[in-house]
Amino acid sequence: MDSQFIFVTCQIGSEQIIKKNLVEKGLRFAFSRPGFLTFKTPHSQPLLDSLELNDPFVRSAGRCLGKVQGESDEQRALALWNQVADIPFDRLHVWPRDRFAAGQHHFNPGLNDGSRAAEASLRQTAPATRSNLFENRCDKNLARRNERVLDCIVVEADEWWIGAHFVDRWVQRWPGGFWQPAGEVEMVSRAYLKMSEALAWLAWPIKAGQRCVELGCAPGGASQALLASGMRVAGIDPAQVDPRIETHPEFQHIRKRSGDVRVRDFQEFQWLTADMNLAPEKMLDEVERIVAHQANRIWGVILTAKLQDWNLADRIPNYLERIGSWGYPRLRARQLSHNRQEVCLAGLRPQRKNRRLAIRRSR
Ligand SMILES: C[S@@+](CC[C@H](N)C(=O)[O-])C[C@H]1O[C@@H](n2cnc3c(N)ncnc32)[C@H](O)[C@@H]1O
Repeated sequence: MDSQFIFVTCQIGSEQIIKKNLVEKGLRFAFSRPGFLTFKTPHSQPLLDSLELNDPFVRSAGRCLGKVQGESDEQRALALWNQVADIPFDRLHVWPRDRFAAGQHHFNPGLNDGSRAAEASLRQTAPATRSNLFENRCDKNLARRNERVLDCIVVEADEWWIGAHFVDRWVQRWPGGFWQPAGEVEMVSRAYLKMSEALAWLAWPIKAGQRCVELGCAPGGASQALLASGMRVAGIDPAQVDPRIETHPEFQHIRKRSGDVRVRDFQEFQWLTADMNLAPEKMLDEVERIVAHQANRIWGVILTAKLQDWNLADRIPNYLERIGSWGYPRLRARQLSHNRQEVCLAGLRPQRKNRRLAIRRSR
C-alpha cells in the first residue's frame, strides 16, 4: 500500500518551525493540532519506505493512513483494525500528542492514561492475525531495527490518527519518539532526564571511568545522569550543587564561571557537556574556549542550546557548523522529549582518532 501523506509529532511550540522547514523541502501542509501535523508529499510512497525528514524538531514521523473516530475506544479500535486491513506490521506503538508545552503546568511529554486505555482497547479488539503485535514486548515496547511499526496517535480522546514507520534509526524504536526512564529515580533536577535521554539518543561509546566536564552543572541533575553512566565528572558552576551530587566520590565541583577556569586543566577529559542559561552563541564561546585549546582532546560534546526566541531555530545549522569547525564531523541536533524551549546539539570526533588518542594517553 502507498501513502501520499506523512504525520509528524513534536513539542507544542515547534509546529511553525517544522511547517516552514518541511514546506521548503517540497511538502504541502495538510492538517495540524498542537503537537501533531500532517503533510502531503509530492508523490505516493510505499507505506513502509524509509523516511528521513532531517529536522531537529520532529520527535516522530511516519506515513499517514488517516484517522478513526467513534463513540468509544472500542469503536475506534475496531475501525482502526478495519482501516489497516491486511497490511503487515511487526509492532504497535500508541501514544498521545502533547497537551501542553514541556514544563507548562508541570507537563512532561510521554504516554498517558488515555493512550494506555487506547492501547488496551486495541489489544482487546485485535483480530487473531494481529496477535504478533502483542507478543515478545519488552517493558518499554521498544521496536527493533527493520521492524514495521503500526502507529496510533491519540490526537483527541475521540480522534485517533493511524500511521506507519519502518525502523531504520535509533529513536524510531521509541514509541512516539519519547525516551522513558528505566525506573523511579530520585532526581536532583529535570536535567537528569534531559541528559539520560541525550546519552540514550546518541548511544556514543562512553565507558565507565572516562572523564566528563560539565559547564553549568548546578544543581546537578545532568551530572547525576553522567555519574550513573559510570563517568567521573567535573562540574563548573558558581551556583550551589545538591549535596547528593557534591559528595559523590567521582564528582568534583569547580565553583567558578566557565570563563574563569584554566583551559589547560582539561587535558585528561574525553567528554564535555554544557547546559548554561546563556544565549546559544555565548554558550558556544564558552565551550570553544575549552575544546578548541590545543592542549585538550575532547572526543565529543553534548550541548543544550536555549532558544530564548523560536527564531533562533533558524540558526541551528550555523551552531552545528561551528561545532564541526572544532573538529567534530559527526553532528546531530534534536529537540529531546525532555527538552523545553531548547535543543540538544552534539558533535563527535571519528572513533579511530579517539581510540588512537586513548592509547597514546594510557602509555
Ligand atoms: C539550567 S541550569 C543547569 C542545570 C544543570 N545542568 C543540572 O543538571 O541541574 C543553568 C546553570 O548555568 C549556570 N551558568 C550560567 N552561566 C555560567 C557560566 N558562565 N559558567 C558556569 N555556569 C554558568 C547557572 O549558574 C545555572 O546553575
